[in-house]
Amino acid sequence: MVAPELTVNGKVLPIAPATPHTTALDFLRERGLTGTKEGCAEGECGACSVLVARPGVNRPTDWVAVNACLVPVAALDGQEVVTSEGLATDAGPGRAPVLHPVQEEMAVRGGSQCGYCTPGFICSMAAEYYRPDRCAHAATDPAESPVDPVGSAGSVASAGPARADAEQGPNGFDLHALSGNLCRCTGYRPIRDAAFAVGAPADADPFARRREQAPPAPVATAYVQGDSVFLRKDTLTETLRVLRERPDAVVVAGSTDWGVEVNIRARRASCVVAVDRLPELRELRVAPDAIEIGAALTLTEIERRLDGDVPLLAELFPQFASRLIRNGATLGGNLGTGSPIGDSPPVLLALEASVVLAGEDGERSVPLAEYFTGYRQSVRLPGELIRAVRVPRPLSPVVAFHKIAKRRFDDISSVAVAFALDIEDGVVRKARIGLGGVAATPIRALETEAALVGRPWSARTVEAAAQVLRSAGTPMGDHRASAEYRSAMLGQSLLKLYAQNTEAVSS
Ligand code: FES
Ligand code: FES
Repeated sequence: MVAPELTVNGKVLPIAPATPHTTALDFLRERGLTGTKEGCAEGECGACSVLVARPGVNRPTDWVAVNACLVPVAALDGQEVVTSEGLATDAGPGRAPVLHPVQEEMAVRGGSQCGYCTPGFICSMAAEYYRPDRCAHAATDPAESPVDPVGSAGSVASAGPARADAEQGPNGFDLHALSGNLCRCTGYRPIRDAAFAVGAPADADPFARRREQAPPAPVATAYVQGDSVFLRKDTLTETLRVLRERPDAVVVAGSTDWGVEVNIRARRASCVVAVDRLPELRELRVAPDAIEIGAALTLTEIERRLDGDVPLLAELFPQFASRLIRNGATLGGNLGTGSPIGDSPPVLLALEASVVLAGEDGERSVPLAEYFTGYRQSVRLPGELIRAVRVPRPLSPVVAFHKIAKRRFDDISSVAVAFALDIEDGVVRKARIGLGGVAATPIRALETEAALVGRPWSARTVEAAAQVLRSAGTPMGDHRASAEYRSAMLGQSLLKLYAQNTEAVSS
């Protein structure tokens, strides 16, 4: 087995002497790549954003921006990383590097003051710059961009074609790509101007061309330093054997949760097992009776591959943390941690999803409604791994996901409510409601469902059911919200669903 190494900005670097818990951020900075910054060390500011070459959704490779503060560098064994330093082009001895187009736009449009956040913004912007779907909307020459010239007082959003809006530029740039990047001093207008001004990559652009080649294949890793080991196996079978032998192992995919534990709570594990590249956990199968989603597909991959085919999931994704987090986070991870305020469980409960658990003796499927057994506890046995999530079809047509949080994006839920209803001839035929943040586990609102089913979809029915929903669970008061507020929001959520769907189902 080759000693663990990774390619950064075209140079191969050995991972040693980093520890199995050393983050990619610390690794890069210790090697002089100090453009990558640490702000929060918990995935909330994006100052540490870097690009990784990953399997593409529409092309062999996508450039994916991730939080380097959360990813153990050992998880990048054999992989290809680009930092903000690597985006500019070397112009030869004695000459300043030629800025990358996103760097150029950030510079000329005043998108950087103190500069602390800027390299992270640059990497997130570059990932969006190279997104194939966006490139179809963008002019190659930035001069052809319909964005106002530098210094103009006009509105960027109003300058583009009809599809542009406050969050989507006339060049197809989706501002949600920057939802995980915080800037404390510039203000976001110039940053948005820069984002909406970039054109499409030139044909000779090396990063654009790189997308046409396969990304580095995952490599088996056994990285031991001191009394800790980071393991990546080639197959599910080998991984399950390790989990049997090492019941103390911490299983990671995108490390969006484990990375926080390591950085903020100083947790360490004697054995960390990566499952994010296991082929068996990365399949997406769409069949007439069900959609099976691999537990290690990232939320971004699921979002782009389903492309709205499961409308309730399509409502969930933009509200699940930030693009940087969704580029690493997985459904398996969100269910595996068992958090009562994870965003996906309420949605998956409303979709009547099942969890496919794989063990050395085979697989079993458990309805998600029976999966959680207590605070951060589940029926998953030691040695078992979540292989997939299965969503039965047909899907209920009236759906909504209401996440109540202090910020619109990139925040933790105070309460989350997911609805999936069948309404025929003005009568509720079926109702599934998933709740998060109101009990020790995510729960179904069974009494409220019963208060709806078989009754007319009317204000009277909904007001009575909302009253029932207000008493669902056992919400607690904490620094995010009081118990009374959480209960009130449950009822309001159903009233909002009714207000948004009255016409649609009565016609
Ligand atoms: Fe803030 Fe990584 S340092 S997201
Ligand atoms: Fe100072 Fe963004 S430029 S924090």
